[in-house]
Amino acid sequence: MSFIVAIDGTAGSGKGTMANAIANDLGFISIDTGATYRCVALASIRENIPYEDKEGIIKLLDRIEIDIQGDNLNPIFLLNGEDVSKEIRSAEVTKIVSQVSCIPEVRLKLVELQRKLAIGKNVVMDGRDIGTYVFPNADVKIYLDATEEVRAKRRWEENQEKGINMTYEETLENIRMRDKQDKEKEIGALKKADDAIVIDTTDLSIEEVKEKIEKIVKSKYVVK
Ligand code: DC
Repeated sequence: MSFIVAIDGTAGSGKGTMANAIANDLGFISIDTGATYRCVALASIRENIPYEDKEGIIKLLDRIEIDIQGDNLNPIFLLNGEDVSKEIRSAEVTKIVSQVSCIPEVRLKLVELQRKLAIGKNVVMDGRDIGTYVFPNADVKIYLDATEEVRAKRRWEENQEKGINMTYEETLENIRMRDKQDKEKEIGALKKADDAIVIDTTDLSIEEVKEKIEKIVKSKYVVK
C-alpha cells in the first residue's frame, strides 16, 4: 500500500523544503525529483557533452545509475555510486538542468526511476509534473507558487548559505528562464493538475505552508 503526496510548482516556491519537512513529520519518505534531473545534467558536464547534443545525452543515460539514500532531512544523491549531493546544486548544473530535462528520453528514464522509488511506500514527491504525469492518481496534489522576486531571494539566500556563487540578478534571471522552459516542455511541462490545491507562498512562512499542507494530508490519510 502506498500513499502519494505530489508537490509541484515553480523553482524556488518551497517544494523541496516542504517535501522534506512534511515527510519527516508524517514518517513518509521524501523524493526530490529535480535532483534526479540534476544528476543527469552533472554527468553531461563531467563528460563534456553540451545539452544541445541530444544524441550524446541519450547515450549517456545508459552509462549512469542514480540512487537516493540517507534520510529526509539529509538525502544523499548517488551518481554511479558517488555522493554528488553538493555538486548537483552548483551554478553550472543549475544553468543547464532545465534544458537537459527537456529531452524526452531523459524524462522517460527518470520518471521510471521515480515511480520505482515510490513502490509500496508513503511518499512526498516534489517536482514539476508529479501530479500531472508521474502520479496522476496521487492521493494529495499540491501546487506551490510565489512571485519571481520572492523565489529568487529565497534561492539566493539558500545559495549564499551553501557557498554557491550566483548573484541575486543571476538567480532571478535563471528562475525566469527555468519557469519559461519548464512550462513549455514537450512532455512533463509544469502545470497545475486540475485537482491540485494551489498555495501561494509569497507571504507565508515555512511553518504556515507546512501546517496547511499537513492538514490536507492528514484529512485524506486518516480516511484511507
Ligand atoms: O526542483 P529543481 O530546481 O531542483 O529542478 C531542476 C530542474 O529539473 C528544473 O529546472 C526542471 C526539472 N524538473 C523537471 O523537469 N521535472 C521534475 N519533476 C523536476 C524537475
